[in-house]
Amino acid sequence: MQKLGRVLVIDDGVDMAENCKLLTRFGYEVVTEAESGKAAAQYERERPDLVFTDLRMPGLDGLTVLQAIRAIDPEATVILITAFATIETAVEAIKEGAFDYLPKPFSADQLRVCVQRAMDQRRLRAENRRLLEQLTETHRFDNIIGRSLPMLQVFETIKKVAKSEANILVIGETGTGKELIARSLHANSRRAAGPFIPVDCVSLPENLLESELFGHEKGAFTGAQATRPGLFEFASGGTIFLDEVGDISLNLQAKLLRVLQERQVRRVGSNRMIEVDVRVISATNHDLAQAVGRGGFREDLYYRLNVISLPLPPLRDRAGDIQLIAHHYLAKYAAGSEKEVKGVTPEAMRLLEAHHWPGNVRELQNVMERAVVLAEHELIGPQDLPEQIRIKAEAASPVSPNELPLKRAKEVWAGSFERDYLIQLLKRHDGNISQAAKAACVDRKTVHRLMKKYGIKLS
Ligand SMILES: Nc1ncnc2c1ncn2[C@@H]1O[C@H](COP(=O)(O)OP(=O)(O)OP(=O)(O)O)[C@@H](O)[C@H]1O
Ligand SMILES: [Mg+2]
Repeated sequence: MQKLGRVLVIDDGVDMAENCKLLTRFGYEVVTEAESGKAAAQYERERPDLVFTDLRMPGLDGLTVLQAIRAIDPEATVILITAFATIETAVEAIKEGAFDYLPKPFSADQLRVCVQRAMDQRRLRAENRRLLEQLTETHRFDNIIGRSLPMLQVFETIKKVAKSEANILVIGETGTGKELIARSLHANSRRAAGPFIPVDCVSLPENLLESELFGHEKGAFTGAQATRPGLFEFASGGTIFLDEVGDISLNLQAKLLRVLQERQVRRVGSNRMIEVDVRVISATNHDLAQAVGRGGFREDLYYRLNVISLPLPPLRDRAGDIQLIAHHYLAKYAAGSEKEVKGVTPEAMRLLEAHHWPGNVRELQNVMERAVVLAEHELIGPQDLPEQIRIKAEAASPVSPNELPLKRAKEVWAGSFERDYLIQLLKRHDGNISQAAKAACVDRKTVHRLMKKYGIKLS
């Protein structure tokens, strides 16, 4: 029969024989060492999955044995057996890195559960390590992490188009990594040594955006105290990244189109044309083609910007990436916090995978940062995740709320009721939020907030 794992029992011959018998019966291979002074050497030879040692022994005590073994292998899993009188020392041993302690007397069941937990923990740790190793190998492109099919296709496209001079339109929901992709396109282009200039097209009013982009002459408008070159000039020889390009006014769209056609800019208040050599990458989180149809975006400019389009899938559609990205950020934030957080429990991972991620990768990144701050154990558990991630998954899970503590059961029930109520409400009013809000006697903001909370989208 396949053994469940190998256990080294440091045995001074008094009452360990019985434990060895039990462990063998549970399906483990047992190796013993009678002299505590030789335990570390034996560990090195056998490399067992688990070590059992008495705390009080003739020769070296259990704490010293623990230290000697952890000096050889900091990941060693050691369980101490302790009498009531030595429990304080056992707690000390946990701080020193022991996995657990079993106070005497214990039952066969307690022994089995304890060993099984230790083995599970070891397996999880190995799994988490494997995931992190994978990260450093193939599943990334620059800082972009992903192994899902749609992301592998994105990596392929970047490789194919980065070197060309074509303008690229990156399309994706908020937080899907549009800017990250734009930076990677630039870094892999022939312009990599030149500047990368991001411009946020939503945050500035039209006239300010115009002078930001194209520059202005001294005195061109009130407040223009000195002549300033625009960002297109700064970006010359490199790439300009027009973020949220769909929000540019029609008037400015016309000016932008001229710059792209003529490869020249004219500063506000000047007649002189200045040559610029710029590649344009733009990004949008809404459907520009639709805006073109509605007359909100110029068709000619759309085709100029969208020579190649690079659609980014939402995180919820990237099977396998959530696990990978969660581990990446966990390792990053744990390293910055000096906390010994090494992974995520399977329950917590299931919750992360079930979440709808309206804020996509940025949301996952924030969730992991928060979880590392809150974590009290080596593995991040459901208790370290935000409420909205726990509630939704619990509502969708087959666990009946009746089996939960009353307070949680109420929350889960209320959450699932509120979600269903909202879906029906919006259906009845054909997705008209104002009407829905009126019918439910709440304001529009409340409807928006709840839609976001439960990841409800109007189709
Ligand atoms: N595939 C990924 N792997 C690792 N980190 C990612 C990935 N995608 C996005 N991120 C991280 O998520 C955050 C948001 O990414 P980014 O700013 O590029 O998104 P965005 O699409 O531009 O969002 P917005 O529309 O809100 O501007 C950044 O911190 C970025 O580093
Ligand atoms: Mg962005």
